[in-house]
Amino acid sequence: ILKDGILSVPPVTPPEESIDIANFDFDKDNSTVSITVVGASGDLAKRRSFLHFSHFTMKVASLRFHFTIFGYARSKMSDAELRNMVSKTLTCRIDQRENCGEKMDQFLERCFFHPGQYDSQENFLELGQKAQRTRGWKSCKPSFYLSIPPNIFIDAVKCASSSASSANGWTRVIVEKPFGRDSESSAALTRSLKQYLDEDQIFRIDHYLGKELVENLSVLRFSNLIFEPLWSRQYIKNVQFIFAEDFGTEGRGGYFDNYGIIRDIMQNHLLQILALFAMETPVSLDAEDIRNEKVKVLRSMRPLRLDDVVTGQYKSHTRGGVKYPAYTDDKTVPNDSLTPTFAAAALFIDNARWDGVPFLMKAGKALHDRRAEIRVQFRHVPGNLYNKNIGTDLDLATNELVIRVQPDEAIYLKINNKVPGLGMRLDRSNLNLLYAARYSKEIPDAYERLLLDAIEGERRLFIRSDELDAAWSLFTPVLKELEEKKIVPEYYPYGSRGPVGSHYLAARYKVRWG
Ligand code: NDP
Ligand code: BG6
Repeated sequence: ILKDGILSVPPVTPPEESIDIANFDFDKDNSTVSITVVGASGDLAKRRSFLHFSHFTMKVASLRFHFTIFGYARSKMSDAELRNMVSKTLTCRIDQRENCGEKMDQFLERCFFHPGQYDSQENFLELGQKAQRTRGWKSCKPSFYLSIPPNIFIDAVKCASSSASSANGWTRVIVEKPFGRDSESSAALTRSLKQYLDEDQIFRIDHYLGKELVENLSVLRFSNLIFEPLWSRQYIKNVQFIFAEDFGTEGRGGYFDNYGIIRDIMQNHLLQILALFAMETPVSLDAEDIRNEKVKVLRSMRPLRLDDVVTGQYKSHTRGGVKYPAYTDDKTVPNDSLTPTFAAAALFIDNARWDGVPFLMKAGKALHDRRAEIRVQFRHVPGNLYNKNIGTDLDLATNELVIRVQPDEAIYLKINNKVPGLGMRLDRSNLNLLYAARYSKEIPDAYERLLLDAIEGERRLFIRSDELDAAWSLFTPVLKELEEKKIVPEYYPYGSRGPVGSHYLAARYKVRWG
């Protein structure tokens, strides 16, 4: 139904999940799964990790599998203290009609704590034995989720892998970014991890790959005839990848100041989306085929040049009587920090499909809105009849496809349309697929998908080491230059649209940000 320029489709009952949860067999050989959050006393664990596991357990694993979550850290904690800590972060993401409280209690009953040193094989061995004893299991498949500072990764992996492999030879290690700070540190980390693990035991999480609309990118491209033929320099003028948050570092300055927005968002989340957007058709949906194509396109890209980057940092701003802090007001950030909280960049892919097309990225904290989007701006219609005959604004003639990753997930296409009436007036309307209107079921959290994949051993949505190398080689030179030359970021008020420099950068490539 097309109403007010909006194409709306009545909600349908979605098909069942493609993964058959009912027959999802964690227990083929009468063994069971335990995930250990290594560094359970830390900030990330407290704020996010257990929450992700609870969503995964309550929604996906549905509490019917043999499954436990262990917290591991040097700090001493009882099971009850861990549960108390975890319970403070839990939120309901299961069907609103179900009794969340009961599910949360069942989840908490599966949480246990084991104290230990990160470099003690003995302590990890005890942890493994406890995991089996706890539920009276014959054997237990251990996964470790590293929620510790990177400088102690290797000690923990060494002990975890040897204690686990001595138990049953099935170990998976889930690692969160940052995977290093640059090409050298990332390669060193990979080399060290591979002393104790095979590549296929390492699950490097980029949680943007688990987001529904990012997963849908390949479906959109490769299963609809109308998009793929247009997906090239012939029809596409530019592509924009936009990440904006309307809050600052919020107490995470200590972590953030060591990385900055380019490492925090661009080198991973936005670049991963770009690779999926621009890659050639993979041979199959097999993880290796997809990741081969991603590596190929990343390796066809030019390393980012300093001239093609604008950086910014938010400063304090008072609005409506409320004073919003500057980045450097965070107690854990040095007063003279030059770390960018905003960056815009122009990247290019030197291959036959994309030669000359600017791929623009923009990422920032403390901006005026929160969104993550892909915007595809198409070329003008050659010799457009309507421009010539009724002098329509050129912009009106340009189609734009927007994939809104969050919030309010949507895919919409801006088209030119005749305003109904006797005259000939055009306006720009949207063909709009708003997920909330079309699909009644709640969209899974990125981690629900990723954790399920990690347990199942599905690697499609995890970063392979050669992908990581290719990604770092695009950003490492410019990051070094920014730091060596101590480039001062452009200051922008908290809650604004970011530095004007990003508009000059876009204008250089005849682009207007969407
Ligand atoms: P924390 O600094 O809070 O450390 C986690 C735990 O590790 C601590 O509670 C402590 O546990 C132990 N630990 C900390 N420092 C040391 C040390 N020098 N030697 C031995 N043990 C230590 O880290 P976060 O929770 O903030 O982050 C964990 C990981 O996630 C890091 O790799 C970080 O880069 C990454 N990350 C964090 C984000 C965040 O928002 N915090 C966001 C994205 C990634 P105990 O003393 O009890 O053993
Ligand atoms: C993390 C970054 O990877 O992603 C954070 O470290 C950022 O700085 C977060 O806030 C954004 O994730 P999401 O899913 O909330 O968009």
